[in-house]
Amino acid sequence: MHRNASRRPPRVRRLSLWLGTAALLAAGTGAVAQTAAPAAPALGAKIKVGFMLPYTGTYAALGTAIENGFRMYVQQQGGKLGGRDVEYFKVDDESDPAKAPENATKLIKRDQVDVVVGTVHSGVQMGIVKVAKENNTLLIIPNAGADEATGPLCGPNIFRSSFSNWQPGYAMGHVVAERGMKKVVTLTWKYAAGEQSVKGFKEAFEAKGGKVVKELSVPFPNVEFQALITEVASLKPDAVFVFFAGGGAVKFVKDWQAAGLKDKIPLYGSGFLTDGTLEAQGAAAQGLETTLHYADGLTNPRDKAFRLDYAKQYKLQPDVYAVQGFDAAQLLAAGANAVKGDMTRKPEVIKAMEAAKVDSPRGAFTLSKAHNPVQDFYLRKVDGRENKVSTVAVKALADPARGCRL
Ligand code: PHB
Repeated sequence: MHRNASRRPPRVRRLSLWLGTAALLAAGTGAVAQTAAPAAPALGAKIKVGFMLPYTGTYAALGTAIENGFRMYVQQQGGKLGGRDVEYFKVDDESDPAKAPENATKLIKRDQVDVVVGTVHSGVQMGIVKVAKENNTLLIIPNAGADEATGPLCGPNIFRSSFSNWQPGYAMGHVVAERGMKKVVTLTWKYAAGEQSVKGFKEAFEAKGGKVVKELSVPFPNVEFQALITEVASLKPDAVFVFFAGGGAVKFVKDWQAAGLKDKIPLYGSGFLTDGTLEAQGAAAQGLETTLHYADGLTNPRDKAFRLDYAKQYKLQPDVYAVQGFDAAQLLAAGANAVKGDMTRKPEVIKAMEAAKVDSPRGAFTLSKAHNPVQDFYLRKVDGRENKVSTVAVKALADPARGCRL
């Protein structure tokens, strides 16, 4: 036990740590003796990281890749951040929004983590954001794009190392419009990630004269795509835009080919459709074009080293999820280093994270005012087992952060 005020309930203790730090900052040295600031954790205390990720279900591989990437960065720092050892706690969130508040509360109240790193699914993310805000716990989102987290629900303690759902959709809307396509049908899982990706797509596509003529969806995580694929074919669009990921993306891409549409209707998607899935998709994925903030064939040295290290350590090729996990750890390191590992100094941790320039395998990025990466979106094309970069579809794309007041 490294916290001194251990008899008080955790919520009160945390609040007093925040208030104590704020008072210290505001009051200057003269008032320090009066502010009853709690003592810092014992020297050598560990930084407690709580992974709330899917380890089962259609997104299981995504959760594992995020954890792998995160741990790899910490290992590269000798297992320490800000000079402190890192201790891990884990919860399988099962991509189930109904269980999110309870699972997040376990990490925050029971395990007393300094930071929650989670999650993949946008619906689960909403629950985590709520609990993290109530407890003033630092949160780093290593995937889920829920626009709200860096929009109306943004907060000083909420950070993202990944993307907003709006971003890759917007980039693809731009590409499809530039290609002169006019009439598009969209097809997604019916939850925030799909709906918000379509919104981003539509915003860029329709601003340039295109029209989304029908928005089709199937409940998450269903993979009975047949009826929808038949309906798409009957609508004869110029192109289709989809959001699917993980196990569901594998099934969709195979079903699309099996229905005989692969060479008939151009299929576009946000890059999750083909990231971490190509081995399982095989021939069905060849030639598919998607937009994402990561790609195969980038030439920066950071990516080269990252891929070599990851392949050596995990005997796997990294994907976008591994990159986002790696960068979540880099972001945390920026905060932890600024306070020499004393994570109770939250205003300073936050300030350092806000100012970080993350040397990511995707290319270096900074954070927007709402704490979302401002980053390039690549157009990629599947070639063998790779999402080969073709070009930058939109440079330094920032989420509009509608509704965020920070
Ligand atoms: C999401 O739910 O926000 C989500 C899930 C999987 C992805 C991307 C976004 O690959």
